[in-house]
This record gives sequence, structure tokens and C-alpha cells, in this order.
Amino acid sequence: MSKEQKVTPWEVEGKIDYNRLIKEFGTSALASDTVKKIEKLAGDSHIFLRRGFVFSHRDMDLVLKDYEAGKGFFLYTGRGPSGAMHIGHLAPLLFTKWLQEKFNVNLYIEITDDEKFLQKPQLDYEQIQKQADADILDIAALGFDPDRTFIFKDTEYIKQMYPHAIKIGKKVTFSTVQAVFGFNNQTNIGLMFYPTLQIVPTFFEKKRCLIPAAIDQDNYWRIQRDVAESLGYYKVAAIHNKFLPPLTGMEGKMSASKSETAIYLSDDEKTVRQKVMKYAFSGGQATIEEHRKLGGNPDVDVAYQWLSILFEEDEKKLKTIHDDYKSGKLLTGELKQLLVDKINAFLREHKNKMENAKPLLEKYMYTGKLAKEMWNK
Ligand code: TYM
Repeated sequence: MSKEQKVTPWEVEGKIDYNRLIKEFGTSALASDTVKKIEKLAGDSHIFLRRGFVFSHRDMDLVLKDYEAGKGFFLYTGRGPSGAMHIGHLAPLLFTKWLQEKFNVNLYIEITDDEKFLQKPQLDYEQIQKQADADILDIAALGFDPDRTFIFKDTEYIKQMYPHAIKIGKKVTFSTVQAVFGFNNQTNIGLMFYPTLQIVPTFFEKKRCLIPAAIDQDNYWRIQRDVAESLGYYKVAAIHNKFLPPLTGMEGKMSASKSETAIYLSDDEKTVRQKVMKYAFSGGQATIEEHRKLGGNPDVDVAYQWLSILFEEDEKKLKTIHDDYKSGKLLTGELKQLLVDKINAFLREHKNKMENAKPLLEKYMYTGKLAKEMWNK
């Protein structure tokens, strides 16, 4: 039986009805006109836009208007270092990289070591720091513009953030965070203050801030939009992606704490193969004979879905895979093998890029142009 849909920054469960989320969260569906305008100004198209993986937004039209008027905008996204990073976490970061490249704008990446320390009772401070350092290298490997990107850990950068955090904190009551995040009498007081720190980076420049992230992070932006103007800043804009589904089926999200649902960036080739072959939920039939006769169902087949969302950019090739699977010509094992090859090629390249990114870490975090100049904008 399907679990009831639940989407918060810390939990995603059930079969997700994205239209219902748009209504509940009060965001806007990403209309085809807006997609076309993004593509026109970018001079290019992105797989997430073409395939509808990026599906919802707040004020994206105003961001594009500001861009056209020469006012510009800046990007902000982040990562909470609670466990090994998986390919779902990469999705918003890859889209962010594309936006930075096409629009040539500044980008701030927040590493919320504080959030994860406060929220995960089983993790101690040292474990979180180790994970944060590993995540920063994974993120740097994606190749953001070193002159236009600042990556920071909250516990290190707190001195610059704190004056803004208390200004935000003074405007947000317990009843608001209770309603928005479900905090209650058992919630530790550290976590209750934390939302201010996820909002602060939207104030890093006096321009409109655009956040690419999955829709689970939207709760923070709702609070930001309530307080920003009274503090002299723009209401934040956001562009939301869906969740990369877990390997095990189309409900919930790929989750770092459930290893059978996820491919971690650190998985080796053999592990990737084993996980996909064993766990990837199949839309195929029980026997080869039946599959040849009846065909498979790509709509529920996770290997097909991952190819469609992330790994097969070529529209023609994807259509052939779709049609061959549906007709029974392509077998489940063959479809899974296509995905395994794509993931392993991607991870091989990622590991090489990690090596090349090591010398750039200082620049991203401390000595780069943006790290030095950001508060003067
Ligand atoms: P975290 O580390 O839980 O997630 C990092 C980013 O990945 C998105 N995400 C996913 N996207 C697609 N498929 C999935 N299965 C999936 N799981 C997670 C998240 O939406 C997020 O964009 N509190 C944040 C860290 C943060 C942040 C931000 C994120 C601080 N400031 C600004 C986005 C924007 C967190 O713990 O993310």
C-alpha cells in the first residue's frame, strides 16, 4: 500500500503528487513560456528543463526580467553533510552549474554542518566535519567558476552571518517555525534557530537571489519571503527540481540513510552493478517469454526513469529505449546494463575531477575573488 505523501526538509515519503505540492506550498508550475525564455536567454537547453524534472518556481520571471534589464541576480544553493553524498544530491548542483555558466553569475554554496549536527542525534561533531570536507570536494569537482563561487561551512563563516541571522531571528516566532517545520517541545533549541542560517545567504548581495534545489527546501524560502523586504532585501526566488526516485521504486526519494535506495558518489563499479541489478525496481514482466509478449512499463521502471531524468541526454536514443522496452524487444537486464554503464562512466569521470579539484579548494573557500569581494557588492 502507498504511504501518505510527506515532504519536509528532513523527510520525504509516499508517492509524490507534484501538482499537489505546488498547490500546498503556494509555488507556481514552471510554464512552457518560462522554460522557453530561460532557454532563449541561456542560448541553450538543459535536460532537466526538457524532461520536466525542474517543475516549479517562485519569481523566476522576475529573475529573468532583472537579468534582461542588466540588474543581474545571484545563485545560492547548499548541502547538509549528514551522510555519503548520492547522485540525487548532485541534481540541483548540476543544474546550478549550468545556470552559472549560461548566465555568468555569482554562486554561494552553504555547507550546513550546524544543521546536521543539531538534527541527527546519532552523529557527533567530528563525524559531521569529516563528511563536510568530503562533500566540499565532491561539490568542487563539478567545476564551478572559481572566480564566481564561494563555498562555506556555517560553523566557520558564522561571524559574518550572525548579524543577519539575529535580525531574521527577531522577526520569526516559535509559532511560525512550529507551523512550517513541525518543531515542538521536544525539538532542541539549536535546531529552532537554525532556519535563520539557511536564510542568511539570500542576503549576501543586494540583488535578487535564485535558489535551485529540490522542493523539500522550500519551507525556508517561505519564511524568507515573509521577512526579506522589511529588512531591505528582495524576496528570494527559487526553481525547484523533483526528487530522483529511489532505486527501489517510484515512492519517496533517494535517501542517503537507506543504502539500497541510493548510488553514492563513492560507490565502485562492482557495487553500482550489484545495486542496480538487485534493487532497481523493474517495470518488466516476470519471465523473458512474457516480457517478449507483453513488453515492459517504462513509467514505473526506475532504470528507465533515471536514464530519462539524468543519464541519457539524447532524445532519439531515449525514445528508442522507451519504445523497445515497451514492445518487449529490450529486456529488463539489458535496460539495467545501459544504466550501469552510464552511471559508471559518470562516476569514473567524477573521481578524476575530484583529484583535479583538490588544488582549487582554498580558492573556493577562502582566497577566491568572490570570497574576498562579496560583502562589497
Ligand atoms: P541536503 O543535503 O539534504 O540536499 C542537498 C540538495 O539535494 C536536494 N535533494 C535531492 N534532489 C533530487 N533528488 C533527491 N533524491 C534529493 N535529495 C536531496 C535537496 O533539495 C538539496 O537541494 N538544508 C539543506 C542544505 C542547504 C540548502 C541551501 C539546500 C542549505 N542551504 C540552499 C538548497 C539550497 C540540506 O540539508 O540539503
